[in-house]
Amino acid sequence: MTARPTIGVVGLGTMGLGIAQVYAQAGFSVIATDAHQPARDSARDRLAQALHSRVTAGKLTEADRDATLSRLTVAEDLAALTPCGLIIEAIVEKLEAKQALFAALEPLIAPDAILASNTSSLPIHAIAQGLQHPDRTLALHFFNPPPAMKLVELAPHAGTSPTTIARAKDWTEAAGKTVILCPDRPGFIVNRCARPYYGEALAMLSQGRSAAEIDAAMTAAGYRLGPFALIDLIGADINLAATEGMHAAMGSHPRYLPFPALKAQVASGTLGRKTGKGFVFPDPPANPPADAEAIALRIEATLVNEAHWLLAEGGTTPDGIDTAMRLGLNFPRGPFEALARHGRPAILSELARLRATAPEPLKPRYDPAPTLEAK
Ligand SMILES: NC(=O)c1ccc[n+]([C@@H]2O[C@H](COP(=O)([O-])OP(=O)(O)OC[C@H]3O[C@@H](n4cnc5c(N)ncnc54)[C@H](O)[C@@H]3O)[C@@H](O)[C@H]2O)c1
Repeated sequence: MTARPTIGVVGLGTMGLGIAQVYAQAGFSVIATDAHQPARDSARDRLAQALHSRVTAGKLTEADRDATLSRLTVAEDLAALTPCGLIIEAIVEKLEAKQALFAALEPLIAPDAILASNTSSLPIHAIAQGLQHPDRTLALHFFNPPPAMKLVELAPHAGTSPTTIARAKDWTEAAGKTVILCPDRPGFIVNRCARPYYGEALAMLSQGRSAAEIDAAMTAAGYRLGPFALIDLIGADINLAATEGMHAAMGSHPRYLPFPALKAQVASGTLGRKTGKGFVFPDPPANPPADAEAIALRIEATLVNEAHWLLAEGGTTPDGIDTAMRLGLNFPRGPFEALARHGRPAILSELARLRATAPEPLKPRYDPAPTLEAK
């Protein structure tokens, strides 16, 4: 591995501070900054607090806590990032802001220093556009909270150099993460391949099935949380925004349809745990219905299909998708493992059945990906 660089972090909110913690805990020196003074002023105390919880939980020694804190420098401005070999931005999710930040950083840093974005939804090729060295730009997508979540999705754009990819991967693996390569496509792997878990459950809800029964069927199939419990955990508003973002980015394809039931849930303010009531929260889990296996097959068939549509676009592998879904969503198995369990004929015939019975505008949801049909 190339020598360990100093890591730069811009944006000291939820994600930026967590990302700074990840590298500092693993022994990297970190220089971090934020445009807003209160975020800079409170960063060290917030990190100390996060580390304190780990010490009291017996997961970190006091000596390691002190060493981690000593590796973080909070800087007043971007000029302090000059020595950094990898700079990760976790600022506001706006294309112009991210473009302006990278353009401002370029003249300050070494020509081979890497500029990484933690964007959840913006194309990395668009963020890199107009830079002098777009070849050193990529997405490093951490999950919330970064210290606890093992997965990082690494998305290069077409012009990202192989050295940039290899270094960002090596250094982030050295910080204890599992780094999965994925294409510069909307939602990367996890946010895209998760859509059917919610979408197909909402489709069943709209056909009269209860949220509690659907959830019980999925937990009986090994999933830690059913789709509705997961929406309640994330927040129906956040889930709707992610679904609408994917729907818009994918040409309004019905596979990403924001179902009216989800919109109604948001409109009614029944957002889940954070409002005290959701689709199923706070009710206790229900017993699985008699047709639990059929419900699980229906949802897994659409998960398999979405994963195959992504696979067909290139830039990732079945193993990469499976690992990302297990680590990013705590799924018991990835879509290709689900495919192996059910067998291709069962998945294809379930998709055909769903297509035949769906209302006309929803039929394309169930068109099988060419790679799924071809084998
Ligand atoms: N929150 C999540 O679950 C999550 C998960 C993955 C990725 N992301 C992405 O990470 C990024 C940050 O998200 P967050 O939830 O940490 O946001 P946040 O609002 O908690 O933090 C953003 C920080 O960036 C600072 N900032 C804003 N504009 C800036 C600029 N131009 N220069 C320097 N600092 C600036 C703000 O002062 C704030 O402290 C976004 O791109 C988001 O899409 C978020």
